[in-house]
Amino acid sequence: MQDAHWHVLGAGAIGCLFAQALHRSGSSATLVMRPGTHQRFLPLIVERGDQRCEAQLPVITAGDDELISHLLVTTKAYDVRAAVAGIAHLLNDDCVVLLLVNGMGLAEQLAADWPRLDIYCGTTTEGAYALGARHIRHAGRGQTRIGKTGLATPPPWFAQWSRAVDHCVWDGHIANALWAKLAVNCIINPLTAVHGCRNGELGQRRDLAEQVALLCDEVSSICRAAGFGDIAQQLPSTVAAVIAGTADNRSSMLQDVECERRTEIEYITGYLLEVADQLGIAAPRNRALLEEIQHRAH
Ligand SMILES: NC(=O)c1ccc[n+]([C@@H]2O[C@H](COP(=O)([O-])OP(=O)(O)OC[C@H]3O[C@@H](n4cnc5c(N)ncnc54)[C@H](OP(=O)(O)O)[C@@H]3O)[C@@H](O)[C@H]2O)c1
Repeated sequence: MQDAHWHVLGAGAIGCLFAQALHRSGSSATLVMRPGTHQRFLPLIVERGDQRCEAQLPVITAGDDELISHLLVTTKAYDVRAAVAGIAHLLNDDCVVLLLVNGMGLAEQLAADWPRLDIYCGTTTEGAYALGARHIRHAGRGQTRIGKTGLATPPPWFAQWSRAVDHCVWDGHIANALWAKLAVNCIINPLTAVHGCRNGELGQRRDLAEQVALLCDEVSSICRAAGFGDIAQQLPSTVAAVIAGTADNRSSMLQDVECERRTEIEYITGYLLEVADQLGIAAPRNRALLEEIQHRAH
């Protein structure tokens, strides 16, 4: 089968990382830029250790007429809906859309807006940050899990991804992986952002460790009621392991709050609270953290 041609919507740190990986492995990848970009090709630089990989990638914008069959979305969660809407006229009816975005509820939103899209979700522990426009540093190697609820075996295009991306696996139970990440994010991200601390301090400072434990209880009860009992049961040890394993990290939410950028909290804690409301579970600690972060952002 011929390789799919991927269009990458969201040429930031993660989008550039995966666009370059696809390109390097021989797949064709095109960047979908905001209107107003007039170049037909743009340089993309990825630094990894002391290696530096440069590529010229083709570019389209919403004003072009190139049809899209496979779309990778790597914007921030709050930009997904508008970004996809802006290029919806370019999407094939049954376009494959792969969301590699932190946060929940986006696939459901897109499916409601465009029921014919073939939507997949992914989660990655790869780490990258921007050094300049489309110039990134690949800071941490991790694992990428991709799946679609109800699809046990991967579609043909996944072969390209396992060839292009190290440690990329098909996950027949992707909802579990997404909820496991959501549960950990609901604890570490808002607490580090509110207390202005590195991840490790959540385990080292007694006052913060107590807050972690109380928040774990609340998040666990929502996970359990939502049908993710295993995640609930393991949450305290999972969170402790992530805190210890990423002790020096400054969470993305902390960095966003410090730089007065919008955070993704509505798609993390906000999503968890929506589920809690639907299930009739009180979640005062999560609600207080959501409000605190929203308050700081304004
Ligand atoms: N960076 C990491 O290490 C990492 C790791 C795991 C998961 N993630 C998740 O991956 C997602 C992306 O993160 P990131 O760090 O790559 O963010 P980022 O660097 O801010 O990249 C997002 C990109 O999307 C672009 N964009 C937004 N709206 C657009 C539109 N309408 N048309 C075209 N481009 C548009 C932005 O362009 P403008 O700059 O013009 O707005 C920006 O270049 C987030 O959900 C994040 O939580 C990131």
